Amino acid sequence: MALLDILKFPDPRLRKKCAPVKEVTDELREFASNMLETMYHHKGIGLAAAQVNRQIRFLTADTRPKDERGRYNYGEMTELEKAIEQPVKIFNPVIVNKEGKTTYDEGCLSVPSYFETVERFNYIEVEGLDSEGHKMTIKTDGLLSICIQHEIDHLDGKLFIDRLSPIKANRLKAKIKKLGYPDPDEDEKKALEPEEVRQ
Ligand code: NI
Repeated sequence: MALLDILKFPDPRLRKKCAPVKEVTDELREFASNMLETMYHHKGIGLAAAQVNRQIRFLTADTRPKDERGRYNYGEMTELEKAIEQPVKIFNPVIVNKEGKTTYDEGCLSVPSYFETVERFNYIEVEGLDSEGHKMTIKTDGLLSICIQHEIDHLDGKLFIDRLSPIKANRLKAKIKKLGYPDPDEDEKKALEPEEVRQ
């Protein structure tokens, strides 16, 4: 297993359109495990191959909420989300059905520490291939639906900031240009520190 480097906006490589995989090989299974490890390391709930500079249609997601002790808290999930085995790893994902609208304050490991409200479809059906190369279908709403739509956008070279109004997008881009991103070394240190102890 290995941690992969995550590209950050405005890296032009994030804008490339990713190609479907022809076959799920051992090498791709290994890559998928590395992506999942990278996503968990950075406390992300989703990651697309494009973000680690590999232009293939693959995404990982794990939107299970955790309580303050780090245990999974299934109570906050929708019934559809609960029925899906997570983490999700899906090659060549395609949205084949979508219904309704929802909004969420989205963030992104490629735009770290910035959040904006984005509108998405509430319910989606996604077809793709699992790690064995077998056809799989996911029918979900809730945070998992939002996350999968966000990751599929990455595979088309699109970021959540592209879904904001021009005014909001420009304001955010100007802020990033001015303030940059938090020091990753500081993040590492924080990740290694024990959870805050309440007195
Ligand atoms: Ni993202």
